[in-house]
Amino acid sequence: MTRSYALGEIETVVKEILPLLKSSVICFKGEMGAGKTTLIQSLCAALSVEDVVSSPTFSLINEYQNKAGKSIYHFDFYRIESEEEALDFGAEEYLYSGNFCLIEWAENIASLLPEDHQKIELEKTGTLTRKLTLK
Ligand SMILES: Nc1ncnc2c1ncn2[C@@H]1O[C@H](COP(=O)(O)OP(=O)(O)O)[C@@H](O)[C@H]1O
Ligand SMILES: [Mg+2]
Repeated sequence: MTRSYALGEIETVVKEILPLLKSSVICFKGEMGAGKTTLIQSLCAALSVEDVVSSPTFSLINEYQNKAGKSIYHFDFYRIESEEEALDFGAEEYLYSGNFCLIEWAENIASLLPEDHQKIELEKTGTLTRKLTLK
């Protein structure tokens, strides 16, 4: 699926994406400012997360709880030095937990990803528009 959107359409986009998610591990790919965190915020809201959703750049992982008490993990591997560092903090346990794992910069831990992960690519097509491709 490919779709262009402005910020005001993001909730609609999320509604379109949700039924297409077959894996619990979703990787968000795109340059700085492409809108990965913004899309994850909207996705979390649609998954009934009431916690504040913000980029875990320094902590690598944020854990949110939705209204049903399910955990949702939000990773940002931009600053990770090696896959070993991810293994050391137990990344695999999260990735294979069956809970949603929403991952920015997953390319930095590529070999740790479950085979059935899905990828959402984001591209900045203008100051206010983004193109999304779900693979
Ligand atoms: N259509 C859009 N979708 C997502 N973000 C947008 C859009 N238009 C403008 N923006 C802005 O672009 C920025 C995206 O930042 P962010 O989501 O943190 O990117 P990333 O996590 O990919 O680095 C935000 O400031 C957001 O307000
Ligand atoms: Mg981000």
